[in-house]
Amino acid sequence: MRVCNVVAARPNFMKMAPVVLELQKRGVDQFLVHTGQHYDANMSDVFFEELGMPRPDVHLGVGSGSHATQTAAVLTAFEATCLERKPTMVVVAGDVNSTIAAGLAATKLRIPVAHVEAGLRSFDRDMPEEINRILTDHLSDLLFATEEDGVVNLKNEGISGEKVHLVGNCMVDSLFRHVESALSNRPWEARGVEPSKYALLTIHRPSNVDDDNALRALMKAINRVSLALPVVFPVHPRTRDRMGRAGIVLADGVKLCEPMPYLAFLGMMAKAKCVLTDSGGIQEETTALGVPCLTLRENTERPVTIKQGTNRLVGSDPQAIEGAVGEVLEGRWPVGVRPALWDGHAAVRIADVLTAYTR
Ligand code: UD1
Repeated sequence: MRVCNVVAARPNFMKMAPVVLELQKRGVDQFLVHTGQHYDANMSDVFFEELGMPRPDVHLGVGSGSHATQTAAVLTAFEATCLERKPTMVVVAGDVNSTIAAGLAATKLRIPVAHVEAGLRSFDRDMPEEINRILTDHLSDLLFATEEDGVVNLKNEGISGEKVHLVGNCMVDSLFRHVESALSNRPWEARGVEPSKYALLTIHRPSNVDDDNALRALMKAINRVSLALPVVFPVHPRTRDRMGRAGIVLADGVKLCEPMPYLAFLGMMAKAKCVLTDSGGIQEETTALGVPCLTLRENTERPVTIKQGTNRLVGSDPQAIEGAVGEVLEGRWPVGVRPALWDGHAAVRIADVLTAYTR
């Protein structure tokens, strides 16, 4: 057995690190490929150090580009890597362009593909990630679901139940492993705020940031929120670019900063009064931490975070955003429970299935 693990963009690292480390512990022959979809040091390198993950054995260096350009570059480069290194299993994670590209290259070479975080559906094909999720699931040989809804979605799409394993959430494995040291660093001090007395904001989805008017309306609401609660805002490079173009001016209470390393962000999340985000993973991490999450989207592919956790869809309407923050400040927010199998041992269950696999 020779496993090839693929990482590409910021949200992949904390999902794959527990799998890589668990396989390492079991002495499995494996190698790590970084497609290079994210390349800034603070969007990539720092995560390897903090998560204790080995450095990539292969770096494809694809960088940014249109969807077709980026996907095609990974497809071509990853095929060459597979031909050269001959893995017997390729593990991909999440829903970024590199996930579908690496999965497609591998399966065409008839190398079995395992998908970590399978079955999630927003039912919104305007999100490029939704297309990536559907296609990756349909070409995969092993599908590792994080929540029961994912298992149901895969069944409804006709995917054989034999391939599907409900294993829990690897991102939560990383969270449990690192939350104590994240808190001991007291990252809020460097940002000039006090525990439980700030909101944390992240936005990068095209639907929120690519349209100047939509972005202006959203940031106007955030400026108003910051009058009641300081807002710490680590800004994604794409969002920074769009904000500059739209000429957005931020209120004093909005504390803009560079994208944060994993531990700093985890510590900031754990002590936030609430988190406002359009990220997928952060909806899960806040549920695991029991911190209120206001999702600035109209839908979510992670419904368990609403049904059981601390997440609520607030959308992009300024009044709804301010109203929801008001509810948090008044202490009217569901406490939530942690979903089944979000227990810090998902990667152990994944490694059990991977090592037992025979086609
Ligand atoms: C990608 C994923 C998204 C994920 C997000 C996390 C897809 C379709 N989207 O979106 O699902 O939630 O990562 O961040 O795969 N850039 C830099 N430095 C970097 C990386 C990107 O400056 O290290 C800038 C570039 O201008 C680039 C833009 O950000 O064009 C967008 O990057 P890209 O990887 O295409 O998509 P994300 O918005 O990061």
